[in-house]
Amino acid sequence: MYTNKTVRGDRNREIKSIEHLSLRLYLPHLVKFLAHFLKVRTELELMNIRSRNPSDDQAIAELNRQVFGRDNEAQLVESIRHSDRYIPELELVAELNYAIVGHILFSYIDLVGQETLQVLGLAPMAVQPEFQRRGIGSALVQVGLEAASSLGESMVIVLGHPQFYSRFGFEPSVSYGIESPFPVPEEVFMVLPLNNYQEQYTGKVVYPRMALK
Ligand SMILES: CC(C)(COP(=O)(O)OP(=O)(O)OC[C@H]1O[C@@H](n2cnc3c(N)ncnc32)[C@H](O)[C@@H]1OP(=O)(O)O)[C@@H](O)C(=O)NCCC(=O)NCCS
Repeated sequence: MYTNKTVRGDRNREIKSIEHLSLRLYLPHLVKFLAHFLKVRTELELMNIRSRNPSDDQAIAELNRQVFGRDNEAQLVESIRHSDRYIPELELVAELNYAIVGHILFSYIDLVGQETLQVLGLAPMAVQPEFQRRGIGSALVQVGLEAASSLGESMVIVLGHPQFYSRFGFEPSVSYGIESPFPVPEEVFMVLPLNNYQEQYTGKVVYPRMALK
């Protein structure tokens, strides 16, 4: 005959064995998740963002060729460097274990309205495919925007993924009376006003002609 105590004892054993089973089932996933989290965290801690040195140029060109699968972006970077639109403080690289895994460049483009004003264009930007979606691109944008603000720049313009750039405060350029030079969906042509932004920053964006070989 079962007493209440025996029933409670059996029940407790049952719960314990269910808990044990769940733990055995979930533990490998938990360990895998923690290992991945720690790996990503460690990688990001080892990551260094700095401005470009001329000795980086070959690695930057290879990165752009690999990410975009063509020469155009690597050549564009090279042409901008040799133009009066280049701002050395605003070409950055992300290094992981001393290897370049990410690159970003901001340079001057024109905003043509009642007058022609210079604003920053963010392009190109690339993160090595196996290191994408780990926060490296965001870190490059963040550091670049801080550098641009401290240089007293007024506005950054970008053509890109809205989910990505909206997290830094970029908004469709039409909200600021700024027109894209290309027929693209409104949400992909975005602007971010910086501290020195003023209301006269309206008009049509004109990208300077850059020689591509
Ligand atoms: C866009 C790019 C620079 C982002 O760098 P990253 O290190 O992967 O970025 P982060 O890890 O900081 O942020 C990841 C976010 O970027 C966005 N993103 C990345 N790749 C994307 C893609 N192919 N399509 C749409 N959004 C993308 C997503 O919002 C993603 O967030 P999620 O992982 O939560 O979905 C990188 O994916 C890349 O080099 N892509 C190919 C080249 C390119 O498109 N360059 C930008 C135009 S010049």
